Amino acid sequence: MLPKKVEEILNRQIEREDYSSQLYLSMASWAENKGFEGVSNWLYSQAEEERIHMLKLVKYVNERDGVALIPGINTPPKDFGDVFVMFDQVLKHEKYISASINEIVGACIAENDYTTQNWIQWFVTEQIEEESSVKAIIDKLNLLGKNNLYMFDRDIMTMRGDGEASAE
Ligand code: FEO
Repeated sequence: MLPKKVEEILNRQIEREDYSSQLYLSMASWAENKGFEGVSNWLYSQAEEERIHMLKLVKYVNERDGVALIPGINTPPKDFGDVFVMFDQVLKHEKYISASINEIVGACIAENDYTTQNWIQWFVTEQIEEESSVKAIIDKLNLLGKNNLYMFDRDIMTMRGDGEASAE
């Protein structure tokens, strides 16, 4: 049985992962319309991954006799400036998600819910990977510069970090 406060904060995370998925989907569509095939592929996969994160949380909450709340669609922005600005936004967003996961760990400790504290470690590790893969992309983008965006777009095709996420 989940403590009420843990159930609430996990439901908040369901909402945030869902929004992450919508945000990256909007970025993917934006990039596709700008002709960035590699960037949009990366973002479409990222959007899928965020949905898997959300499902993971939904299943866990329900399995532990909580009630997972499915959020309504929160419309993300539709314009992201340029790819430099956009990837900075991705990193900023991932840092926000990492902080949010840390708050869940804090709530688990405060409520003596060591089962959830243990379970949520997957997300803690995942956030390290997510932040580092976005940082690697930003480094490459800065290295290649504004005049080599075509090369960057080709390169990012091979930079898809982990496809290992699963809702199970
Ligand atoms: Fe599910 Fe990128 O955080």
